[in-house]
Amino acid sequence: MTMAKMRSAKITSKGPHLGDPIPAEGENGLFSQSWFPICRSYDIRPGEVKGFDFLDGRVIVFRGENGVASVKSAYCPHVGADLSVGKVVGNNIRCAFHHWDYDQSGKCVKTGIGDPPPPTACLFNFPTLERFGVIWAFNGEEPLFELPSFRHPDNELEIGVIAGDTYNCDGWVFACNTPDMQHLKVVHKIMPHHADPHKDVEWDPWGFHYNVAAAHGQGPEIGWRLAIRGTSIFHQQGMIDDWWFGVIAGFSCPRPGKHQIFLACATHRGSGSVADVALAKERLERGMIIIRRTADEDRDILNTIHYRPGTLTKGDTTLAKYLDFLRGYPRAHPSARFIV
Ligand code: FES
Ligand SMILES: [Fe+2]
Repeated sequence: MTMAKMRSAKITSKGPHLGDPIPAEGENGLFSQSWFPICRSYDIRPGEVKGFDFLDGRVIVFRGENGVASVKSAYCPHVGADLSVGKVVGNNIRCAFHHWDYDQSGKCVKTGIGDPPPPTACLFNFPTLERFGVIWAFNGEEPLFELPSFRHPDNELEIGVIAGDTYNCDGWVFACNTPDMQHLKVVHKIMPHHADPHKDVEWDPWGFHYNVAAAHGQGPEIGWRLAIRGTSIFHQQGMIDDWWFGVIAGFSCPRPGKHQIFLACATHRGSGSVADVALAKERLERGMIIIRRTADEDRDILNTIHYRPGTLTKGDTTLAKYLDFLRGYPRAHPSARFIV
């Protein structure tokens, strides 16, 4: 390259236009206040305890003999043993080290040696929900919003759960896929029958939803309602050809810069007869193949992305609004002193 050409390359190379960044999970010690999946329901049987990475620390999920599952900080307030190597006794979790027992509210109710339980000996009690075959924890003292519901009551659903891959990015990056209508067309070959889906998007304080009637590139006609709740939940329900199918995908937060996707898929059991349930199971299998393939189409992109809002166009109208939503999203870390 001649000197003149090098000079002109330098002058024209201004670098990409960058919008305001989105705070990463863990930035300044804070995490988004949303519902995060921790594990599948059947990972924890009655009387069982397991440990999981969550946020920037460690939690346990234990299920009492009464069947109730709860998510707590993992480290014993006595001298810090990890309760995941403890034992469930009745409805309490017992620390392996000195046999202090904690009840399902996280309070120490008994010490092994008989000293009175110190009133400050408490675990962090994450708001916990068990729904759609998944155990969820909210990052906060109190949940700020509810998990979404399907059109049909939970007890009429046939549910299948996939604990999918772990991706090399925060969960909100996956959530950005739903408002990203350019990628719906080119990555997933979902071709909307209506011209401008952006004007049909409805927002509320905890997310948005819109309806899409489209030809799915892989075959079926779809009529879906797509939604995002908070920073970590994708919700889809509607028709594949002439039958109803629903999905709730939770993006976990095992540590900053990583997430695992939990895909809970649902079909309707109809009358509940043997034949209807068999049909619901068959449809569930078909729907899960579509949804797993859709997630696979995103995998390489999300595993390598360095997400940063840059030059957006008209086709990014809804994405731009969701990015603003993320910039202003509440972040906190009330369990920091317990789980780290
Ligand atoms: S460290 Fe748990 S009881 Fe002592
Ligand atoms: Fe996608």
